[in-house]
Amino acid sequence: MGLVGSGIMGSGIAETAIESGYKVTLLSRTPESAQLIVASIKDSFERKIGKHKKTSTQADEELGRLSVTNEISDLADCDLVIETVVEDLDVKLRMMRSLDAVCKPSAIIATNTSTFPVIELAAATSRPDKVCGIHFFNPAPVMKLVEIVKTLVVSEDTIQAANSFALSCNKEPVIVKDQAGFIVNCLLFPYLNNAVKLLEQGVASMEDIDTAMKGGCGFPMGPFALLDLVGLDTAVSILNSLYDEFKDPNFSPAPLLKRMVTAKLCGRKTRAGFYKY
Ligand SMILES: NC(=O)c1ccc[n+]([C@@H]2O[C@H](COP(=O)([O-])OP(=O)(O)OC[C@H]3O[C@@H](n4cnc5c(N)ncnc54)[C@H](O)[C@@H]3O)[C@@H](O)[C@H]2O)c1
Repeated sequence: MGLVGSGIMGSGIAETAIESGYKVTLLSRTPESAQLIVASIKDSFERKIGKHKKTSTQADEELGRLSVTNEISDLADCDLVIETVVEDLDVKLRMMRSLDAVCKPSAIIATNTSTFPVIELAAATSRPDKVCGIHFFNPAPVMKLVEIVKTLVVSEDTIQAANSFALSCNKEPVIVKDQAGFIVNCLLFPYLNNAVKLLEQGVASMEDIDTAMKGGCGFPMGPFALLDLVGLDTAVSILNSLYDEFKDPNFSPAPLLKRMVTAKLCGRKTRAGFYKY
């Protein structure tokens, strides 16, 4: 399989796929980002070896299945390619056209978009029946859910292949209609956004809001820790897409979120967001 994008999701899906036996070619824009991915997967494997979750022989075998490239033509023979580039519609449309031009005609091209209409990405290719959403969650090696997004024109074979792929990665896939936010983000993002609005109103400190949602709802992390994990830039893009689709004020990004993205306080990936890392 091929993966495009060497950010949080590209790295997590690559790790999951090589652990599940797939041979993965990962396309990144620069050799430096490709090497960072390999280093971060090696670190994760070291931690798993330390916890006796795998042996070093297994880790070496799995890493042997990962190759990184800066040449899109290296994806020509893949049966499945998943794009995980930045949540920016123009960038994704350009990537879909480029993938369509190089991938063999039988290949499935999937997107990990959180909110864009999958049909728009499919329509940018000459094979809309072979394009679907395969939406992993963050961190991909840990989270069980994968949303398989079904457009109006995708073939049943493509959906079944995507579903089988997710099952073979030991995930729990659900099939969902092509509507902004699918299931999880449509329900999750108004909550995250309203947590920022509560903070803006001075109702409580972010630490207390996080404590409240963990202790009161049994959530594993509070909204501010989760926004930092997701990435505030990604969160604002997701909210904007949801707002475009539904025009519901709950989806309109809180001003503080937008200001923090402008200030490059994007969360864990920039080492500072609501918290410092
Ligand atoms: N972060 C999450 O929690 C999460 C969860 C599920 C799905 N997603 C989706 O996964 C995708 C990637 O998100 P991420 O969190 O990994 O983002 P990220 O910011 O960590 O990585 C984005 C990647 O896109 C690349 N990129 C940026 N501009 C580009 C361009 N012009 N051309 C080609 N590549 C470019 C970057 O180099 C980087 O490799 C998005 O569609 C996002 O909505 C994110």
